[in-house]
Amino acid sequence: MSAGTIETARDQPGFDELLREWDGEQAEIRYDAASGAWMFICLHSTRLGPAAGGTRMRVYPSAAEGLADAMRLSAAMTRKLAIAGLPFGGGKAVLAVPVIPRGEKRRRLLLRYAELLDSLRGRFWTGPDMNTNECDMDLISSPYALIRSEDRGGPGSSAPATAVGVLHGIRASVRHEFGSDRLDGLVVLVQGVGGVGGRLAELLVEAGARVLVSDVDAARARRVASGLSARAVAPDGALRTDCDLAAPCAIGSVLDERSIPQLRCRIVAGSANNQLATLADGGRLRRAGILYAPDYVINSGGALHGIGLEVLGWTRDELDRRLSAIGETLTAVYREADEQGIATSEAAERLAAARLGS
Ligand code: PHE
Repeated sequence: MSAGTIETARDQPGFDELLREWDGEQAEIRYDAASGAWMFICLHSTRLGPAAGGTRMRVYPSAAEGLADAMRLSAAMTRKLAIAGLPFGGGKAVLAVPVIPRGEKRRRLLLRYAELLDSLRGRFWTGPDMNTNECDMDLISSPYALIRSEDRGGPGSSAPATAVGVLHGIRASVRHEFGSDRLDGLVVLVQGVGGVGGRLAELLVEAGARVLVSDVDAARARRVASGLSARAVAPDGALRTDCDLAAPCAIGSVLDERSIPQLRCRIVAGSANNQLATLADGGRLRRAGILYAPDYVINSGGALHGIGLEVLGWTRDELDRRLSAIGETLTAVYREADEQGIATSEAAERLAAARLGS
């Protein structure tokens, strides 16, 4: 293999094992020799409609880990879109790149990806995700690439709507845990201050919360913190910070056997996809007395923005109503979890299964 390509790590399951054990419908796999990138499009379920989900660009330790991520993320999309009541199934695309490309290299990679996307003829609809944005969707310029920039006639970035949805979810969580949804004086940690986390931090400050921010990019954390008169905390061990509510807004799998016993918060409610390393971690949070907002319930604002405005023809007012309903859905999930004595993640799974009729 030449330098810059991604090798499959030996102790990880390979493509064969991942594909054999996956419960999804279709996985498209391409190796893009010109860039050394792998393209994965996973269609987890088309039961409720064509599959939809963002296109994530990321450097992975191995190609197989990129495929595994696309598979897990696409399953979460099935649940997210079913619970949000959207007529779409779940999918996800991952561009597993050797380095995040810029300029002409990025443009060419995205155009080759657009060919793969178009070849699915509407079985998969996409939009931005980690490390991709509305300008990338402009470049892809496919009828199946949602959330283009406003300049190109799209609805613009979905990050602000996602943050608004998370804020509604945070209020519902705080009401459930503390009896009132007032955020003033509450100490909230936002882990990851990119598009969604950065906007969420602003909204929280406006609502009177005492906000702490962290980011793997320390300069970005400092910049956001000083702009908001918030406090920056170091990214290592950020989730161990003493606070009322922790909002993971960056990578997934942050809640596991090792991290959960170290949490010092009452609520975990953030925008990151796939926050639980395994489903068992939902039970761990419950036993630790921590209220967990299932990620695919609280972070559906981006999907509501893209699909609602572009495909379903909603007005901005309708979108606002649907974003606020995220809080009501979460409250229903919390109530069900309490009544059944189960983890909130389990209650969300059951709600999704009921919507999917499975
Ligand atoms: N990528 C976002 C998510 O994970 C938003 C998105 C959803 C984009 C559906 C396109 C389609 O929810």
